Amino acid sequence: MNISKRWFRSGGAGWHPGLYEWFFSNTRRGIELRAQDEELIYGLLEAVLRPTHSILEFGPGTGNYTVPLARRCTRVVTIEPSETMQEYLRRRLEQEGLTNVEARLGRLQDWVDTSDKFDGALVIGPLYYVRDLKEGLLALAAALKHGGWSIFNVPLLTPEGWFQFLNELLARRRVYLRYAEETIKLAEETGLKVERTGTVGTTRKGLNLVVQARRV
Ligand SMILES: C[S@@+](CC[C@H](N)C(=O)[O-])C[C@H]1O[C@@H](n2cnc3c(N)ncnc32)[C@H](O)[C@@H]1O
Repeated sequence: MNISKRWFRSGGAGWHPGLYEWFFSNTRRGIELRAQDEELIYGLLEAVLRPTHSILEFGPGTGNYTVPLARRCTRVVTIEPSETMQEYLRRRLEQEGLTNVEARLGRLQDWVDTSDKFDGALVIGPLYYVRDLKEGLLALAAALKHGGWSIFNVPLLTPEGWFQFLNELLARRRVYLRYAEETIKLAEETGLKVERTGTVGTTRKGLNLVVQARRV
């Protein structure tokens, strides 16, 4: 086994929900990144989300987007590989009194094409840790109805992307950095028509690319 395989754990490993929330609520970088992320993602959701929609969310983590989503649509199914994150999310949903969210354990790449097709899918974070981006996007497209929307992000091959790559080494998670053009091309190849994009980050070239696309 090579050293990289021995060092890195899966993208669902090593998460501490309390620490994760602390970073985004108490550090300058975390507050700035979350504010930018939310502004962009809520703007995109505004254009596509309808109250009747049934939504699939991969990698909900602590539920930063799950809670507002659940309040604005009929049903949310979440797919999360980390049991620690899932437990935190379940407690949060209970506290919020939300009963229209079904929290399941799993990974994006393992999603199988079932008869349960969704009006929309949100994937904020998971694609950082998926080695084969095409495989991840194919799984995402397979979960959607024709015309269904998706909003996902990928980390960029930029100095800020490398900074994130190094940070995540501490948690022994491997981040896969991408070019924006490569991501858009792969999305189109997997049957996702890209409608809008934006960049989040505290530097000129940014940290990640956010994409809104529809299944053709
Ligand atoms: C950076 S957090 C983002 C959490 C949340 N979406 C947010 O924006 O606050 C990434 C989440 O994705 C999950 N994750 C990692 N790899 C995944 C995969 N292959 N499929 C689904 N979720 C994954 C992690 O366990 C973690 O909860």
